Amino acid sequence: MRILITGGTGFIGCHTTVELQNAGFDVVIADNLSNSNAKVLDRIEKITGKRPDFVKADLSNARECALVFDTYTDIQGVINFAAYKAVGESVEKPVEYYKNNLGIFLNLIENMTHRGINYFVQSSSCTVYGEPDSLPIKETSPVKKATSPYGHTKQIVEEMLSFITKSTPVKAIALRYFNPIGAHESALIGELPNGVPNNLMPFITQTAMGIRKELKVFGNDYPTPDGTCIRDYIHVVDLAKAHVVALQRLINKEYKEDLEFFNIGTGRGFSVLEIIDSFEKSTGKKLNWTFAPRREGDIIQIWADTSFAEKELGWKAQEDISSMTLSAWKWQEALAE
Ligand code: WQD
Repeated sequence: MRILITGGTGFIGCHTTVELQNAGFDVVIADNLSNSNAKVLDRIEKITGKRPDFVKADLSNARECALVFDTYTDIQGVINFAAYKAVGESVEKPVEYYKNNLGIFLNLIENMTHRGINYFVQSSSCTVYGEPDSLPIKETSPVKKATSPYGHTKQIVEEMLSFITKSTPVKAIALRYFNPIGAHESALIGELPNGVPNNLMPFITQTAMGIRKELKVFGNDYPTPDGTCIRDYIHVVDLAKAHVVALQRLINKEYKEDLEFFNIGTGRGFSVLEIIDSFEKSTGKKLNWTFAPRREGDIIQIWADTSFAEKELGWKAQEDISSMTLSAWKWQEALAE
């Protein structure tokens, strides 16, 4: 079965391509390469022995998006990763974020409804919850007012899907990611942010590699055990596998609602200092870091209640925190070769 993966040369997209191919699906990737590199296609082929088809396309452009579906008439499902995703940048460039992220989504759905393609998996985010009132957070926990255009586009897509899946044959699953980190065991694919990393893990590995002078820990006066923020970090391969089981649930018509949401995390939170400690222990590398003021927009703590995904998808994260931090380092080392 042919699946379209939009944004498939990105960090989570390429890991999901590998797991889909491992599960016997044929994949075509559509990506504008604005935040990724086509070299990833060679790496995927090296890992699975199968080179995914690829179309360079700006999917927010209606004509380019339709051309993908005109070219690959055997597409039967879509996994949508394609979006701009830098929280801070979205605050500076809201119009670009709304146009791009919502434009891509609407073009995809329009093509799907016109061509009888009914399976849609949406890359969503725990960002939709904002600062949780209670933890661990459930899919039924309230979605809070967005604190950035990036998070707002994630919420809007979920809301549009709730109407679209009721009035069209398209059925969907939105996976609410927590914090994906780590890399495939081959160290052939991994996180490769453009420029200075926003996210913690690539900043840690680049600091350990000497690319960055020191890691700044944003805030040590939060109401948490060690004063630093807590997040639910999940291995990107565990996250990728969740997309395969979500797609299979749609294909096998095992869904119980036209649109379903699943928290994809480990169910356990780690503080920034605990991540640093895990990194140093798993790699043997000493990290140069210092405390710095809080970062605007950071929530204090969040971690997932993953019981719904375990029960309904039969999915549970398998990799532990040392596997996440070590695999991230192995990938950083491979980049230096
Ligand atoms: C994690 C923790 C920082 C960098 C965001 C988006 C989310 C998703 C993942 C796209 C926080 C601290 C970080 C640094 C630090 N994005 N930190 N020094 O903010 O939880 O989630 O990225 O899909 O939607 O919201 O991830 O890795 O940026 O930060 O101390 O140099 O690490 O303050 O507590 P975040 P993050």
